[in-house]
Amino acid sequence: MNDWLKETLPFLTEVFAGDFSGHDLEHTLRVYHLAAAIWEKEGGDGEIVALAALLHDVDDYKLTGGPMGGTSRAEAFMAEQGVSLDKIKAVTKIIAEISFKGRDTVTPTTLEGKIVQDADRLDAIGAVGIARTFAYGGSKGRPLYIRGESYALDMTAEEYAKHESSSLGHFYEKLLKLKGLMNTETARQLAAARHQFMEDFLAELSAECFF
Ligand code: NI
Repeated sequence: MNDWLKETLPFLTEVFAGDFSGHDLEHTLRVYHLAAAIWEKEGGDGEIVALAALLHDVDDYKLTGGPMGGTSRAEAFMAEQGVSLDKIKAVTKIIAEISFKGRDTVTPTTLEGKIVQDADRLDAIGAVGIARTFAYGGSKGRPLYIRGESYALDMTAEEYAKHESSSLGHFYEKLLKLKGLMNTETARQLAAARHQFMEDFLAELSAECFF
């Protein structure tokens, strides 16, 4: 798996330069390492897991302004690197299936896809998930919390993309659900401690903010 980390690094550094929305290079590197750890226990094609993890956000609509589920940058990069057509297809399918889209979220069809989706979701929870949530909210000019806010718990992909909530709302609308949505047993185990950490954080926050 390590070869692809080295091969993609210059491309990834360029793609994510100047991003402060939480979809930066470090997020991609964490997803890669998490995916590698899950893959070691769960198996599958390591090259497909590595490429999908490393390239999963290069076409993100929040970053490129392009369509949801697009894969053109990832595809072009792999073609340039001489990746076989079969592998390009497998990787782009994973990237297209990976995102959380409210009620329209899909379960990836392959083991490799399940591993990378789990890795991406693990990086959205725990201490790093808390940090990313408030950084993203700040980049969008959203408040930390809104007193008495009501949460939209069941949204379609389109509603989810347009929806504006406080950073705290994001925990209830997405992050606290992720533990129950893990595809693999290895990720479920990793998610348990991260989920508990968020629960403890939310209890402390509500005490400190006099909710
Ligand atoms: Ni991601």
